[in-house]
Amino acid sequence: MKDLLDEDSLKYKYFIENCEKIAKNYGYSYIETPSLEETALFKRSVGESSDIVNKEMYQFLDKGGNDVCLRPEGTAGIVRAFVQNKFDKAGVAKRYFYHGPMFRYERPQKGRLRCFHQFGVESFGQKNVTEDATVIAMLAQIFAYFGIDTTLKLNSLGCSECMPKYKEGLLEYLQELSHALCEDCNNRIATNPIRVLDCKNQSCQNLLKDAPKITQNLCAECDEDFKRLQKLLDVANISYEIDTNLVRGLDYYNKSAFEFVSDKIGAQSSIAGGGRYDKLVEYLDGKATYGVGFAIGVERLLDLIETPKSTREGYMLVSSSKEGIQKLFVKAQALRLESQAILEYSPKNLKNALKLADKNSALYLLYIGDDELAQDKIWMKNLSTKDESLIDF
Ligand code: HAM
Repeated sequence: MKDLLDEDSLKYKYFIENCEKIAKNYGYSYIETPSLEETALFKRSVGESSDIVNKEMYQFLDKGGNDVCLRPEGTAGIVRAFVQNKFDKAGVAKRYFYHGPMFRYERPQKGRLRCFHQFGVESFGQKNVTEDATVIAMLAQIFAYFGIDTTLKLNSLGCSECMPKYKEGLLEYLQELSHALCEDCNNRIATNPIRVLDCKNQSCQNLLKDAPKITQNLCAECDEDFKRLQKLLDVANISYEIDTNLVRGLDYYNKSAFEFVSDKIGAQSSIAGGGRYDKLVEYLDGKATYGVGFAIGVERLLDLIETPKSTREGYMLVSSSKEGIQKLFVKAQALRLESQAILEYSPKNLKNALKLADKNSALYLLYIGDDELAQDKIWMKNLSTKDESLIDF
């Protein structure tokens, strides 16, 4: 876990504020859900066979004996809120963006934190694959805005009609090979065979080269949607690679699944991921509602973000005497109704006052020396234009 402060917190704020602006341009509004949820929510959504639920949850019993955990991701809580507010029954379309800390008890390594932050969006009630293309376009716009080079990987995970048939064929293929696959793969063959495709082990990947591909086993509707998605990305000039091994680490996806990866922060690290989840509202006891969204891992990007050079703003208030400081204390309070004002509490001569104003990037220095105190005046200097004047207190 890592603190965000100084340069990093400035970058974090800058990143989130601009993501918010972009998401609002796409018709999204802000949602905030608790960081703590019932454990069952994630078991039923992210899935019991996923690493996140299996190994990585910060799970405990609260004082009332409720089984709760710190949220490992944002989607499940937002779906819960959508259902609890009965938007599913009302059949309304909703588009939300969110940001905040997520918690996963992962093995700490470069790019992996146990408390990290995501910016994400979730769109409910849109069947049309144009919505998938639109959330991908939003992500592409965000990365372009910050000048971050990415590769988009795209796959379709089919639906409840074609995926089970594909899984059967894949399972047959994998069982033949199970003696040569790693222990993790063998566990996955038993729990969720498509996650074998995702194995990071090169020798397993070599064995999987001839495995059946989901994109060649889609039903007519999923196939049409996947082709349409590619067409929409083509016309929007968003380049992508089809990756039939992209299965995502969370179980709730169907149809479109995508990840943005970058080489700039370690080998092919995922900086954002998402996809469609048309069954999730139903899994969480709601009325069937289409859903699609993404989340960006903010910490992974911080090194790649440059904030604009800070410009001078507000006032630095300094005096050569205790009496002057007391007067400036009153002045600072009045200024703070409108702008930034920083008051120095120990007496300083003018030379040091100017240095302080510069160090704090103030636009104005307000100074009360002995003469100004006697005359009930303030000496003011604009540090940009260098204009100086004597003003009434
Ligand atoms: P995810 O792929 O698990 O998806 O996470 C999204 C992003 O969070 C990753 O691409 C990565 O940048 C970042 N991330 C994940 N784990 C860590 C970690 N331990 N340390 C630092 N960064 C990390 C989801 O969470 C889905 N809820 C996305 C989604 C929204 N799908 C539909 N709607």
